[in-house]
Amino acid sequence: MVNFTLSNPTTIVFGRGAIDALSEHLPADCRVLLLYGGGSIKHNGIYDRVAEKIGDRPFFEFGGIEVNPHYETILNAAQLAREKQVDFILAVGGGSVIDAAKFLAAVVACPESDPWGRLRNEDYPDDILPVGVVLTLPATGSESNPVSVITSTTRHLKVPFSSDRARPAFALLDPDTMLSLSKHQLANGVVDAFTHVLEQYVTEQGNTPIQYGYCEAILGTLIEWGPILLEHNSLEARENTMWAANQALNGLIGSGVRQDWSTHMIGHALTEIYGIDHARSLSVIMPSLYRFKFEQKKQMLARYGRRVWELTDGDDAEVAMLAINRTEAFFAEMGTPISPNDLGSIVISADDVVAHLERANQTGLGEHGDIGPHEVATILGMAKNGADKVQIRHSHTTN
Ligand code: NZQ
Ligand code: ZN
Repeated sequence: MVNFTLSNPTTIVFGRGAIDALSEHLPADCRVLLLYGGGSIKHNGIYDRVAEKIGDRPFFEFGGIEVNPHYETILNAAQLAREKQVDFILAVGGGSVIDAAKFLAAVVACPESDPWGRLRNEDYPDDILPVGVVLTLPATGSESNPVSVITSTTRHLKVPFSSDRARPAFALLDPDTMLSLSKHQLANGVVDAFTHVLEQYVTEQGNTPIQYGYCEAILGTLIEWGPILLEHNSLEARENTMWAANQALNGLIGSGVRQDWSTHMIGHALTEIYGIDHARSLSVIMPSLYRFKFEQKKQMLARYGRRVWELTDGDDAEVAMLAINRTEAFFAEMGTPISPNDLGSIVISADDVVAHLERANQTGLGEHGDIGPHEVATILGMAKNGADKVQIRHSHTTN
């Protein structure tokens, strides 16, 4: 097991009506900046419920946080936060708004006018503002993790920032907030959470049976309840997928294991360059990446095949290959693309993707640091040309 330190101070309030706990968890005398996105919370009633619970505390609002939030917008929010002397940031939204809030909390505490480089080096100030979260889209786990993924439009970069100081103080997870989500966003959430588990599970095998067992429980839950969520959006399905997405990326399953975030880093490049939804940038890449890294990942892929997909026949290599096929079929069942050919008019240029990774200093990806520009170009080529994908789309249950 790799040595680790784990501290997750975020208080989670989970269940129907969780938003009502806001007044209890907001400090009594704080000045609040309410951060939100494109306005969905004003249409589905969440804004009104939140405003009521903020009560008499002075509060200011900053809307318009983009999907894949922009650094330049967060600098504007920081100006308002300073002007109004707020001392608490309340994120109401999905991963984009939450990431922006956590990053904003640090920006406000930085004296520099352009703290990008400092924060990229994980040099977060001690006195960053506390953040609270009302989650409206389960997917990223951002509500109780240290990460913000931020896009700079001037630098042409989409990259992760991280500091344990940025973990929210509390997160309210009410599955009824998911009722206004489109099938498209629900599917994105399931696929994103699924890949978060795989990036911490299908890596070099280690002595971590507890983490692996937990990964298998989360994956099994998403496989069982993801399709039900899309079909019925039932309470049980909302509860199970919301909790699974949180557990997939709150630090627990990744503790002590070697992690491989290469699918995510290539995906961020695809999103920055082509505007592809985060989850869809992952489903396009991950199966080909696993086929490319087959020998290195074979052992864990075989375990995944047997324990999660309940494949019983075949040796390790056969089960591992079937497990990749099953993963791809699951992404297709959720309606997310599994090949660049599924992306409509978008034509992916390997050179542009590699250039993004080079700008981001991400030229040695994977748990062994051996996925560089040449390997990324090969993976993109395999994703485009994968011959077995066609067969999969016609037969989801084929072994
Ligand atoms: O902008 P609003 O009006 O809020 O609408 C959003 C947005 O259009 C809408 N939405 C959210 N909740 C809704 C709703 N619409 C109706 N009803 C609701 N209850 O959904 C759209 C997508 O929202 P967004 O927050 O962008 O989605 P998601 O939660 O998937 O977040 C994606 C961002 O998180 C980053 C991604 O890279 C991307 O920038 N990630 C953050 C991670 C982290 N912090 O650990 C890890 C992830 O791997 C990921 O990279
Ligand atoms: Zn993700």
